[in-house]
Amino acid sequence: MQPTYLDDDTISVFLDYPRVVAILDEAFADLAVGRAEIHARQRTDSLNLRLSTMGALWNARQVGGVKIYPTVSGQFSFLITLFDLETNRPIAVLDGAEITKFRTAGLTALIASKTASQRVKKLALFGAGFQGTAQALALCAVFQFDAISVVDPLVDDAWCSRLALQTGSVVKRCSPEAATLDADIVVTATRSQTPVFDGNWLKPGAFVSAIGISAPKGRELDDATLSRANRIIVEWKPQSLREAGELVLWQTDNALEREKIVDLPELYRRSEPWRGSEEDIIVAKSVGVGLSDVACAYLAFTRSQQVQETQAKGAAA
Ligand SMILES: NC(=O)c1ccc[n+]([C@@H]2O[C@H](COP(=O)([O-])OP(=O)(O)OC[C@H]3O[C@@H](n4cnc5c(N)ncnc54)[C@H](O)[C@@H]3O)[C@@H](O)[C@H]2O)c1
Repeated sequence: MQPTYLDDDTISVFLDYPRVVAILDEAFADLAVGRAEIHARQRTDSLNLRLSTMGALWNARQVGGVKIYPTVSGQFSFLITLFDLETNRPIAVLDGAEITKFRTAGLTALIASKTASQRVKKLALFGAGFQGTAQALALCAVFQFDAISVVDPLVDDAWCSRLALQTGSVVKRCSPEAATLDADIVVTATRSQTPVFDGNWLKPGAFVSAIGISAPKGRELDDATLSRANRIIVEWKPQSLREAGELVLWQTDNALEREKIVDLPELYRRSEPWRGSEEDIIVAKSVGVGLSDVACAYLAFTRSQQVQETQAKGAAA
């Protein structure tokens, strides 16, 4: 049988945040017990061009694959291939922009659902582009925010009104300080290579998710944020410690500070809550790992198969 091809438009119909959060939860729980393995990102540069690949084997679901993407003038173009490992046949080729967006925002929502403090009322969103908008929508699938404060020089009132309509929250443009001061959740989804807010502004109990740059040369979070954090969550240390500028550029002389860094497999293995006290500041830094892509691509593929089966039954009836 020919592999199925799913384009971004089709994929966006098949995916929704509750399902994406659930499939990521399952995949990382499997990673923790050796029922999945991550194929770390590889990057190859030639002058101003870059080619990256990343992937995973998800043994528990008998599926595996890779995402491949060139970077040209700072812009990505993604494609994902998926294999059925029972038959060892390619089953699908998928556009990757929607999957990358859903899996990145879904992961923030997943970690936030396990670590945010009890009373979540305000979101501060830094960067309201393609990823930032998705981050807000994914979090709104889990929390009902009274207010969303947006920091982005390109955002206008029309954009705020649209997000307010979609989420039922009051959405307004803000300065970095006003946005951060009383935020329960802070998301950074910019292309900035320098910190976008001062960590001293964070309130006790805040949860911060930084998903922007995934290269060691830049960072969205400052040392104050990392030093004040009681826990710093990364997806998977072998890749995250190498790629996350926040961690590579962190100027700390205190070796104990680095013991706050924990990855998702470690958290899933421990049978304890991911948050200590209500006053803890928790930081999540995402660089993007192949298991998230494969899990999300698998979800899109299985949903497309279900829809086809339903249509075939309808036609036969
Ligand atoms: N962690 C992951 O897995 C993952 C996945 C996909 C993309 N990304 C990264 O996410 C980032 C955002 O991607 P995108 O496609 O949404 O980009 P985008 O260009 O669509 O949006 C970025 C937005 O950030 C705003 N911005 C820039 N500097 C800012 C600042 N200092 N404060 C507030 N806003 C600022 C811009 O005005 C823009 O609206 C990129 O760095 C990308 O590489 C990470």
